Amino acid sequence: MHQKKTVFLALALVGVLLLGALTLSANAQRSGGRKPQPKTNPLVAQGKKVYDANGCAACHAIAGKGGKSAPDLTRIGKEHKADWLGVQIRDPRKNTPGSTMPAYGPEQISDKDLKALVAYLSSLK
Ligand code: HEC
Repeated sequence: MHQKKTVFLALALVGVLLLGALTLSANAQRSGGRKPQPKTNPLVAQGKKVYDANGCAACHAIAGKGGKSAPDLTRIGKEHKADWLGVQIRDPRKNTPGSTMPAYGPEQISDKDLKALVAYLSSLK
């Protein structure tokens, strides 16, 4: 009598453990098997940080946020190629003589950050 009860309890325990293991592995499969696509590419995300860190928004607006003293950049990726955008940041007067936009040298925005910033601007379409 006592033995039967022990066997029953042991079986019940095994059942619970199995169920738990199955649930865990199902969850692992769900999250690992089909990885969700990252929404933004990491270079673009880094470029947005560079944009924010350098105060571009003091003069420029993107999607309604930012200053109004300079052209809106909401669709800048449609208007200009990456090379042109890189020049615009390093030396605005090369693109537009008489431009009042400050130049950002490599001591302010590193080449790596410039690449990210240009990727971000190019993504604005
Ligand atoms: C002090 C204000 C000011 C700041 C800060 C500033 N800009 Fe500008 N920017 C301007 C002005 C004014 C123009 C328009 C003249 C010209 O095209 O050079 C301009 C033009 C541009 C253009 C070309 C826009 C077009 O439609 O042709 C881009 C791209 C740009 N800026 C990006 C940036 C980025 C990126 C930053 C931050 C790293 C930045 N700007 C910081 C004032 C600013």
